[in-house]
Amino acid sequence: MNLKILQNIPELVGKKVFVRVDFNVPIDEEGNVRDDKRIRHAIPTIKYLLDRDVSQIILTSHLGRPKDNEPHLMTNKVAEKLGELLGLSVAKVDDWGESGMPDSKIVMLENIRFHNAEKSKDENERDEFGKQLASLADIFVNEAFSNSHRAHASMTSVPKFIPGCVGLGVEDEVDKISKATVSPEHPMVVIIAGLKADKIIAIHNLLPIADKILVGGAISYNILKAKGFNIGDTKADDEGMAEMADMVKVVSESDKVELPIDAVVADEFSETANTKAVDVSNIENGWMALDMGPKTIEKYVGILNDAKTILWFGPVGVFEMDVFANGTKEIGNTIANSDAISIIGGGDTAGAVKKLGLADKMTLVSTGGGASLTMIEGKELPALAILRK
Ligand code: 3PG
Repeated sequence: MNLKILQNIPELVGKKVFVRVDFNVPIDEEGNVRDDKRIRHAIPTIKYLLDRDVSQIILTSHLGRPKDNEPHLMTNKVAEKLGELLGLSVAKVDDWGESGMPDSKIVMLENIRFHNAEKSKDENERDEFGKQLASLADIFVNEAFSNSHRAHASMTSVPKFIPGCVGLGVEDEVDKISKATVSPEHPMVVIIAGLKADKIIAIHNLLPIADKILVGGAISYNILKAKGFNIGDTKADDEGMAEMADMVKVVSESDKVELPIDAVVADEFSETANTKAVDVSNIENGWMALDMGPKTIEKYVGILNDAKTILWFGPVGVFEMDVFANGTKEIGNTIANSDAISIIGGGDTAGAVKKLGLADKMTLVSTGGGASLTMIEGKELPALAILRK
């Protein structure tokens, strides 16, 4: 790995360290943390720094996609949760510019996306903001793998002004994903599912790399619709698909890409809906596909059983409702019982694997969806590029 790593940074004693974490965790309407996996993930790096007697750890994260500095997206509750997990106090700083920084050993800044410059399209504006952030510390640590596909000020500008490196979690995640994908053991099978039409880009970019791409979830019905199937009332991102017509053509004509052959359809989006399994050529208006059908599950499981490397991005049905969780369960169990190297990407997939009690049986449950997918597509992540040796 040619990244600058934390263990190689000399003399941390007495230093102020700016740690960019990704505490963009699932929360309820009041901002209470519903899943603390990403917070726990940063703890080894925080403890490593405390053990080396740094003078201050300044934690920064985004939370959600704020439009108007919504109160439930403030970082108070994530700071509290971190304090609870560490058994130490974590001071929350609302605006370091006005109030200055407290002396506390561990501080958490307010949601960094409350500052428009964080995501500005203008690199100079981002750098100007990054310079202000960098002035708070001596060293920069990227412990936010899952946000490393974003060229945002706190990710890519701060390390232009102070020495930077990746944290322990980023190092481990990059290492495992690289080992699985740089020279993967074949057959390499990728499962891509989800709602957004831009997953088509990932499918397209994976065609030269993967031996098989098993498509599920809403995106598979987008492709079936583009191929002329009637998908009834199944949700489809028509607008997104229209922009990618050329890629859809390439993807739908590739013999590496497998699409569902049948589906569990429902007459409403509800746990108590009437359901039935039908071939994808027989989806009627008034019905929506919410899970894979038994023939598709059997076919996909057969392909997965021969795989040596498996990458899974996105639950293949509405697994939050038990009645539509069967496809996700079968895919999850097959991967968990396989000897293949298995990388699970994305918050929803990680949530499904955790709910099924299978997380320990996977090679890596990545903290990131977009970031790991970008890496697997063979593209450089901007926030890692700046930390290369
Ligand atoms: C994620 O949850 O994937 C990262 O935190 C990035 O969040 P974003 O998609 O809102 O940029």
